[in-house]
Amino acid sequence: MSVAPPRGSVAVLTGAGISAESGLSTFRGAGGLWEGHRVEEVAHPSAWARDPVTVWRFYEARRVQAAACAPNKGHLGLARLERRLGGRFTLATQNVDGLHGQAGSANVLELHGSLWRVRCTACGREEENRTVPLPVLPPRCAACGGLQRPAIVWFGEVLPEDVFTAAMEAASRCALFLIVGTSAVVQPAASLAVIAADGGAQVWEINPDETPATGVCDRIWRAPAGEVMDDVVEEAIRWVSGAGSR
Ligand code: APR
Repeated sequence: MSVAPPRGSVAVLTGAGISAESGLSTFRGAGGLWEGHRVEEVAHPSAWARDPVTVWRFYEARRVQAAACAPNKGHLGLARLERRLGGRFTLATQNVDGLHGQAGSANVLELHGSLWRVRCTACGREEENRTVPLPVLPPRCAACGGLQRPAIVWFGEVLPEDVFTAAMEAASRCALFLIVGTSAVVQPAASLAVIAADGGAQVWEINPDETPATGVCDRIWRAPAGEVMDDVVEEAIRWVSGAGSR
């Protein structure tokens, strides 16, 4: 059972943009295609049913890229904010790269799963797998020999209920919601900003570009996250400890 976050808390939603300065390409940036496919076409159960090797090649490319990356000032700033606020902080991410954890964030709600976990499509066993590159695609389950898939939430699949419930509770009760580096077009993650705004929170956006979430935002940093995160963190601490907090 999840514990409701306390008042005066900060909740954060991040997307691929926060990892851009680490060298990871975003999904909908220039072109937004992988070998001519839209992400929505590869990250889909029907793609897996048709051609598991192509799906794995896509994720293997992301794994190879992610393994060579280190957290940047955006990730590090959010980890520092968590340390400063203790239990009054929740970080939900759409990212599957693990860079928030590497930066020192302790409580990360991975809404879309992780590149570093695999799940057997035959027996359902899930395990960590950090081997890069994988010797064989697709990898096979050591227990039953079944094909393993990335433990990632694909388009058309449902987010893990406990994880999304915790994110919704945090968004609905927080004093301040930060939406960082996401195009805010993928649901239900993008709805968290609206839930926060409806709950009366301040909503701040950190993104070089306008997004569909911009309309509910009270403050906007139109800049790369790594360049402004130190400033955002200080402002956030001031906000939740000051008169604006609830
Ligand atoms: N700092 C902050 N934001 C940035 C930066 C940066 N340095 N660089 C780019 N951005 C912004 C872009 O302007 C864009 O709005 O990051 C956003 C990236 O958007 P997407 O590529 O659509 O990534 P995301 O929002 O995480 O996608 C959501 O879609 O494909 C699926 O499951 C995948 O979790 C992913 C989901």
